[in-house]
Amino acid sequence: MTSDFASLAQTLADQLVAWRRYFHRHPELAFQEERTAGIVAGHLAQLGLEVQTGVGRTGVVGILEGAQPGPTALLRFDMDALPIHEETGLPFASQTPGKMHACGHDGHSAIGLGVATLLAGQQEHLAGRVKFLFQPAEEIGQGARAMIEAGALLDPAPDVMFGLHLWSLMPLGQAVVKAGSLWAAADRFALEIIGHGSHGAMPHQGIDAIAVAAFAIAQLQTIISRDRDPLQPAVLTIGAIHGGDAFNVLAERVQMEGTLRTFDLATRATILARMDGLLAGLCAAYGAAYRLTWRDFTPPVINDPRATAHLRAAAAAVLGAEAVADGPMMMVAEDVSEFLNRTPGSFFVLGAMPDRRARSETGPSGEAGGGARSETGPSGEAGGGATAPAEPHHSPRFDIDERALPLGAAILAHATYTWLLHSPTQQPT
Ligand code: NI
Repeated sequence: MTSDFASLAQTLADQLVAWRRYFHRHPELAFQEERTAGIVAGHLAQLGLEVQTGVGRTGVVGILEGAQPGPTALLRFDMDALPIHEETGLPFASQTPGKMHACGHDGHSAIGLGVATLLAGQQEHLAGRVKFLFQPAEEIGQGARAMIEAGALLDPAPDVMFGLHLWSLMPLGQAVVKAGSLWAAADRFALEIIGHGSHGAMPHQGIDAIAVAAFAIAQLQTIISRDRDPLQPAVLTIGAIHGGDAFNVLAERVQMEGTLRTFDLATRATILARMDGLLAGLCAAYGAAYRLTWRDFTPPVINDPRATAHLRAAAAAVLGAEAVADGPMMMVAEDVSEFLNRTPGSFFVLGAMPDRRARSETGPSGEAGGGARSETGPSGEAGGGATAPAEPHHSPRFDIDERALPLGAAILAHATYTWLLHSPTQQPT
């Protein structure tokens, strides 16, 4: 059976783990993914794909031509790591101090190579073509745009796109496949409050930028609580603040950095305008000035309903229908939205919560991959008390359950193969 991708993917499980561990050992930051791109390009070429490297600096595009006529599907995987010092103690931990695959993109790249292997094996039955896109610099929200500007969506232009993110806080064997809003829009901003320096004992002769900054931090949250429609999610976070040089000097300047997360672009516009209005009024009241700079906007991840229904059927075929949920939304952001804004498609979240007990034992657990494992309660792990909870993404102790890799490859191969086989105009959904 050409479409039994779930069992075919299991035969690739060892290879998927080997790729993932290699990438994990050799993490590369945004736009530096030379070694990763080299491995990816080499394997795609070996499978007979037409490969282009250096797309959007370090991105890779591979095209698999099916033997039958048909449309074009795009599959997107991200490759970059984070500037985090790994503390997992895993035997395949990062060999580069200060760099770590702490978001699972090592797994995404491995899954991409797995999907390419599975679909290349069906080339004579495959309709249309599959465009594999291995993207750099997702973590800084710039890689997708770089690849698009380099022409990654042209010649051929895709008719549909699919992608995934592994998720360490969701049990293995579960997935979220959701139409409409999935992940948030992200804005990054820099805010500077400009006062007037003076002696700390004579504050009336200056304008205290630290005092104004304190009011600003507190009052900005009233935009979220008072100006935003409570039915529209939004988060405003100040993540960094620097100001002042000495204990007895009134600080002249305070620099802050933060992020705004929204789903709805009208809500976003309201908050942006209110931030300016509030800061202008506040600074006027104290005789201070401010500079608010917005940059690196990533749009919200919004999935096409038809592509999502198709992807949900593929996920259900691999995981079982009861393992596929249509929520929740999350406030994290992903620049896959740049592709989804230009090509109808669907991006899904695949559970990859590590099994801590399996890790602490020496031998294999004897359980074949695939079953949902949702136990999160305490176990009899030695070393005191309850099992450590799964580590979130971007933690120095982040890890995934590698049994998610063949599941992800199977779902994407199944979704892509079947979507291409039926002309999109005849899609039952
Ligand atoms: Ni990520």
